[in-house]
This record gives sequence, structure tokens and C-alpha cells, in this order.
Amino acid sequence: MRVIIYMAITANGYIAKEDGNTSFVSDASWNSWDKLSRGAGNLITGRKTFKIDLADGNFPYLDRFNVVMTSQKIENKWGNKVIFTDISPKEVLEVLAKKGFKTAFIGGGGELNASFMKESLVDEIYLDIEPVIFGKGIKLFAESDLETRLELLETKMLSKNLIQLHYKVIK
Ligand SMILES: NC(=O)c1ccc[n+]([C@@H]2O[C@H](COP(=O)([O-])OP(=O)(O)OC[C@H]3O[C@@H](n4cnc5c(N)ncnc54)[C@H](OP(=O)(O)O)[C@@H]3O)[C@@H](O)[C@H]2O)c1
Repeated sequence: MRVIIYMAITANGYIAKEDGNTSFVSDASWNSWDKLSRGAGNLITGRKTFKIDLADGNFPYLDRFNVVMTSQKIENKWGNKVIFTDISPKEVLEVLAKKGFKTAFIGGGGELNASFMKESLVDEIYLDIEPVIFGKGIKLFAESDLETRLELLETKMLSKNLIQLHYKVIK
């Protein structure tokens, strides 16, 4: 199973403002994110990202399998394209593998990303670097003593102002 994280970040590494606002993310980044997630056929998010997606009218993504990781009991009103689960990151990947997925697509936020990274489960990271800086906000990886080396696989200009970095995680 190939496991990827895809995030749009500010030039100084935030994925959202403190209140969860992500209006800094450009259409070029959203389109690229959407294409890759749709291709994988799945999207794994944390409960806080799910809440933002729901409020924005984006949840669920019905053309893919939506996994929301949470310790809370959330009623599933959306049918079999959605699961809310408190199983571990490793077990989530096993569930996806059993369903026949070849790629697992991790779509944030920072707490969820860190929980997969801490267990060395991530193979590749895509970062779209938006031309903006926030003084404070939600970090790409929630604070922990994580240290991971990366190999740069590719850089791509998604628009005049937006660069995409594609990394392999060295294990
Ligand atoms: N810029 C981007 O590309 C991008 C992408 C995605 C999200 N975002 C933004 O990121 C923000 C949210 O990030 P965040 O770090 O605050 O929260 P988050 O990672 O979305 O959600 C955290 C919650 O997810 C659950 N969770 C996380 N890891 C888990 C695990 N391993 N097992 C079980 N449950 C797990 C927990 O829920 P419970 O407390 O219910 O247990 C935890 O409180 C939002 O503002 C969103 O818009 C930005």
C-alpha cells in the first residue's frame, strides 16, 4: 500500500488559521488535491477536518471512500461511502488494503498527519506552498518529537505563484 499525505501550506508551514479557515488555498491546489484523492479512491481525515468539510458543504466526497478518524461516536447519515472509526492508523490502512485500494490518501489535518507519521506509515508527501505567511495557525504536523528525513522526488509549478513539492519519506 502506497500511503500519501497531501497538504496545502503557507510558506511557513501552516495548514489553516487558528479558527480552521483555509481560504488561502488556491483553486489550482484544490484541483490537484482533488485529482490525486479521486485517483486513490479514498480520503482519510481527522474529526476536525471533517467538521470543516461538512460546514463548507464539501463532505462527503461521494466519488471516493471517506474515512474519518475519531474517538467520538458520530452518527453516519451518509451510507457506505463513509466510515467514522477509532481504530489505529495501521488498522485503517489494513481496512483499505482489504477493500482493494492500492493508495491510501491522507488529507489532514495536522493531528491526523502526525499520528500516521509517528508510526512511520507514510511513503510520500505532497506539499503545495501557497504564497502567504501566517503568524499563527494549525501546523502541518501537530507538535511532537517527530524527525523524518525526506527525498525530493519532483517539483512542479501549479500556477505562477504556487509550487508543489513531492517528497519520498526515507524510512
Ligand atoms: N491546508 C490543507 O491542505 C488542509 C487539509 C486538511 C485540513 N486542513 C485544516 O486542518 C484543520 C484541522 O487540523 P487539526 O490538526 O486541528 O485536526 P485534525 O487532524 O483534522 O483532527 C483531529 C482529530 O481527529 C481525530 N484523530 C486524529 N488522529 C487520530 C487517530 N490516529 N486516531 C483516531 N482519531 C484521530 C481526533 O478526533 P477525536 O477528538 O474525535 O478523537 C482528533 O481530535 C482544519 O482547519 C482544516 O481545515 C487543512
